[in-house]
Amino acid sequence: MFVSMKEMLIHAHENGYAVMAVNCVNMEQVKACIEGAEEECSPIILNISPRQMREHGHSYALPPVVKSMAERAGVPVAFNLDHGSAYEDFVTALKAGFSSVMIDASACEFEENVRRTQMIAALAHGCGKSCEAELGHVGNAEAGDEANTDYYTNPEQAKEFVDRTHCDCLAVAIGTAHGSYPKGMVPKLDFERLALLKKTLNMPLVLHGGSGAGEENIRRAVACGINKINVNTDVMAHAVEEIKAALKENPDYNYMDLCMRTEDAMKDFIRRYMRMIGSSMRYTFSRPEGPELD
Ligand code: 13P
Repeated sequence: MFVSMKEMLIHAHENGYAVMAVNCVNMEQVKACIEGAEEECSPIILNISPRQMREHGHSYALPPVVKSMAERAGVPVAFNLDHGSAYEDFVTALKAGFSSVMIDASACEFEENVRRTQMIAALAHGCGKSCEAELGHVGNAEAGDEANTDYYTNPEQAKEFVDRTHCDCLAVAIGTAHGSYPKGMVPKLDFERLALLKKTLNMPLVLHGGSGAGEENIRRAVACGINKINVNTDVMAHAVEEIKAALKENPDYNYMDLCMRTEDAMKDFIRRYMRMIGSSMRYTFSRPEGPELD
C-alpha cells in the first residue's frame, strides 16, 4: 500500500528500527525495492532526486510507475523527493504524486535553512504530504566531508530548528558522507552525538550516505535512534557488478534477461540490508483489494 512517510517513520521510531530509502532511476530498481520489501514483510521508501528525475526518471515517466506498484504492494511503500532545493522541484514532485519531500538547505546558514524549510514543510503539509529536512551537512565521501566535524549536527540547534520548521523527520550529520569512501576506509561515526540528538528531539532521525558505512556502524546507528537510511551508491554498484559478471559469462546476453538478473542482484542486497536495520517482519503481508494483474 502507498503510504505517508510520516506514519511509517513514527512506527519505526516507536519500535526502534530503520527503514531503507533507496534511490530509484528505473523500473528494475522500483521492482527490486518493492518486491524485496514484500518478501521481507518490510516497509520501504523510494527516493528520487531532482537530478535523477531531470536526467532519467522523468516526472511523467517514473513516478506513475512507482505509484502504480506502491498501490498494489502488500507492504507499506512511501515515495520521497530526495534532496529537493529549488521551489519548482517541490511543485513538480507534489504534482507527480510523491508522498513526501526532502528540503535540503543544509549548505545555507541556519536562519536561511529555517526559512526555506518552514516554507516547504508548510507547502507539503498543506498537500497532506510529509517533509524531511537536514541540519548540519552530509557532504561527499570523495571530498572527505565525513571527517569535517564542523558539518555535524548540533543537538541544541536541532531542537530549535525542528520547533520552528515543523519538519516530520530530520537528516543529521554524524560522520557519514554520500558516495564511495576511499578503498578500505570505514567512517568513524559520532554515536554520542546521535544518542543526544535522539534524546533531545525524540523524533524520527535520518542517516544519509548509507553505502559503505560498515555493518557495525549501521547497526549501532539504528540502536542509537536512526529510523531512515538512504542508500544509493551500493545498490547501483550491485547492479553494475552483476551486469559485468553476466557479460563476462556471455557477451551476447539477452537484454531483458540482463535486466531481470540485475533486478535480482539489487533485490538480494536490499533484503540483506533490511534484515540488518531491523525492518524485516514488521508488517503482515496484505495485498490491497483490486483486479488481479499479470
Ligand atoms: P549513498 O550513495 O552514499 O548511499 O548516499 C545516498 C543518499 O544519502 C541519498 O540521499
